[in-house]
Amino acid sequence: MRLAIATCAALPQLDDDGPALLAALAARGVVAEPAVWTDAAVEWGRFDAVVIRSTWDYAPRRDAFVAWAERVEAETRLVNPASVVRWNTDKRYLAQLAAAGAPTVPLTVVESLDALRLPSDGEFVIKPTISAGSLDTARFGPGEHDGARALAAAILASGRAVLCQPYQAGVDDGGETALLFFGGRFSHAIRKGPMLRRGAGLATGLYAEEAITARTPSPAEHAVAAQVLGALPFPVPAYARVDLVPGDAGPLLLELELTEPSAFLGFAPGAADALAAALIAAVG
Ligand SMILES: Nc1ncnc2c1ncn2[C@@H]1O[C@H](COP(=O)(O)OP(=O)(O)O)[C@@H](O)[C@H]1O
Ligand SMILES: [Mg+2]
Repeated sequence: MRLAIATCAALPQLDDDGPALLAALAARGVVAEPAVWTDAAVEWGRFDAVVIRSTWDYAPRRDAFVAWAERVEAETRLVNPASVVRWNTDKRYLAQLAAAGAPTVPLTVVESLDALRLPSDGEFVIKPTISAGSLDTARFGPGEHDGARALAAAILASGRAVLCQPYQAGVDDGGETALLFFGGRFSHAIRKGPMLRRGAGLATGLYAEEAITARTPSPAEHAVAAQVLGALPFPVPAYARVDLVPGDAGPLLLELELTEPSAFLGFAPGAADALAAALIAAVG
């Protein structure tokens, strides 16, 4: 089996997960090589399958990214599938999961500045519906509506819709819990420290720096993650990351990553092999 591991031009040799994933695939007899998704010279059809990994520069050109995924899928197998990529690369999927009963951080989405209603009390977050790496994302207080509207205007000017959420202050102490599922089975989890400081400027580069540690999820977090995966409008794909934050009454879904999640393979023994096995099973 020959696999292409899709990445971005800034990370032609993959991310931190890359070496462990390539080694785990090799141990299972799979030849895998990195390939940059924007590289027009890559012949995707000569691989048995393409696995999307560190394609983190897609947010400003999501339509091109989805079109690429569909093109790849016309030539060979794509993991996760292009229909999943289309669904998952716009955070409006969160409203769908919430409507299906998954405990989710409340959200509103607007496509114009006139429609933007900012909360009059409490802190809130403004971010693009199409985003990655905490970019173009900021936290505001009740007295900071001008700054929030300016960020919303910039997001709209970039051609993306604006997502507004109450800031979940539990993340300041508890952090965010990301649960990794490979082949639909829980593999491991990590804690990500809080990413947004009031008054800090927007992050620059490919992604904002993260403070990651291993974490054992609580029973409540496991239960919410199961609800989230159970609410999907398609079968649970080969890899999934469920990002939860502490809400007032229990864990809430912040993000479901089915496209290009960091898998944090270095934080759990056996995780790289579990991902390799799930990818091989998905390719068949
Ligand atoms: N509503 C929120 N409450 C608390 N923290 C948030 C909220 N929204 C975003 N954040 C912080 O910003 C980071 C990035 O937001 P996220 O929704 O995960 O977008 P992405 O990772 O796709 O850029 C999160 O890891 C979290 O620390
Ligand atoms: Mg995130």
